[in-house]
Amino acid sequence: MRTQVLIVGAGPSGLLLGQLLHKAGIENLIVERQSGGYVLGRIRAGVLEQTTVDLLDEAGVGARMHAKGLLHGGFELAFDGKRHRIDLQALTGGKSVMVYGQTDVTRDLMEARASAGLPTLYEAQDVSLHGFDSDAPFARCKMAGKEIEIRCDFIAGCDGYHGVSRASVPAAVIQTYEKIYPFGWLGLLSDTSPVSHELIYGRHERGFTLCSMRSQTRSRYYLQVPLSDRVEDWSDARFWDELAQRLGSETAAGLVTGPALEKSIAPLRSFVAEPMRFGRLFLAGDAAHIVPPTGAKGLNLAASDVYYLWQALGEHYREQSQAGIEHYSARCLSRIWKAERFSWWFTSLMHTFKNEPAIDAKLHRSELEYLISSPAAQTVMAENYVGLPW
Ligand code: APR
Ligand code: PHB
Repeated sequence: MRTQVLIVGAGPSGLLLGQLLHKAGIENLIVERQSGGYVLGRIRAGVLEQTTVDLLDEAGVGARMHAKGLLHGGFELAFDGKRHRIDLQALTGGKSVMVYGQTDVTRDLMEARASAGLPTLYEAQDVSLHGFDSDAPFARCKMAGKEIEIRCDFIAGCDGYHGVSRASVPAAVIQTYEKIYPFGWLGLLSDTSPVSHELIYGRHERGFTLCSMRSQTRSRYYLQVPLSDRVEDWSDARFWDELAQRLGSETAAGLVTGPALEKSIAPLRSFVAEPMRFGRLFLAGDAAHIVPPTGAKGLNLAASDVYYLWQALGEHYREQSQAGIEHYSARCLSRIWKAERFSWWFTSLMHTFKNEPAIDAKLHRSELEYLISSPAAQTVMAENYVGLPW
């Protein structure tokens, strides 16, 4: 079997890259370890920067997002029982974000790929990558127990944090940076109307809370929980009760509760691998970097990697230029580190840390007070939240 670009992983990065390459007339094949249904079962963040929205439009998959997504011109910070609005539009010269779930983005991309008749090998086992330091890279995998070999010009490693792509690179040529936070996010999805029409990020002595949504009738809430907690420890009733306590009586008065459609705990991590290209192997999305979800930068960073890779491969095939390929890693990393900084800062500001020195809690509170009183500080936050330019 042969293709021009072999994409490992059919998450949002791999699917978006596949769609864009196809539009540019570049042949691609995706190998994915899981089934399509499994990929769609993962619930993740849901805030898209304008540049991500534009790229999804470019890929021809924006119709449902524009019909169903919610444009948000601001969000709120809550602490000490009060809510303070960050007016994204006023602070950034009219920019907003699109609230549209990653599951929906993935579904739109999967459907577009299927209707374009593009090949995806789901449930591919034991994918291994070879020869990417030469001009003739190839991969092997097993399909229904039968070994196949796929030859290609390039390999795009879009296979997430636990994928085979980054793991295939010799340790001596890759450097990784990692921070693991001492708590997780317990998320609950329910068919209830959101407590507010915009997102609320809350700091409380019992821990962080986030009130988000998927639509006018579907809410997504998160609670900071210790890493030792298990989902089974959290009945729906306990979740709603804890959320109400952290939100405070005024906001909790408008909280509509209902049965959980999904509940899960996600750990929080900052992670970057450098560089992001090894000969003819490129890393993109979660394969190369992870941000903690405060600020929802994960999918947006995946989109900018894909944008640079699509441009680079387009230049290679169209103009025989290697410039985009040479610069891919540096271009991605420049944007990634800025989003890593923002996500780390927002996480540190809003969460409570066990055994935190009393002075740290005071400093965080002081920073929040500064933030709500200073248009300059709010502008810094807003320009990062809506997304830095590509
Ligand atoms: N072989 C083939 N496929 C694999 C392998 C492997 N060895 N390992 C992992 N995969 C697949 C996974 O099953 C998954 O479907 O790669 C895909 C990677 O998808 P994601 O983890 O969603 O990563 P990415 O597409 O980069 O999406 C980034 O996801 O975690 C969020 O915040 C993040 O929103 C961002 C987005
Ligand atoms: C979500 O809706 O899941 C969400 C929104 C904003 C975030 C993180 C997650 O910062």
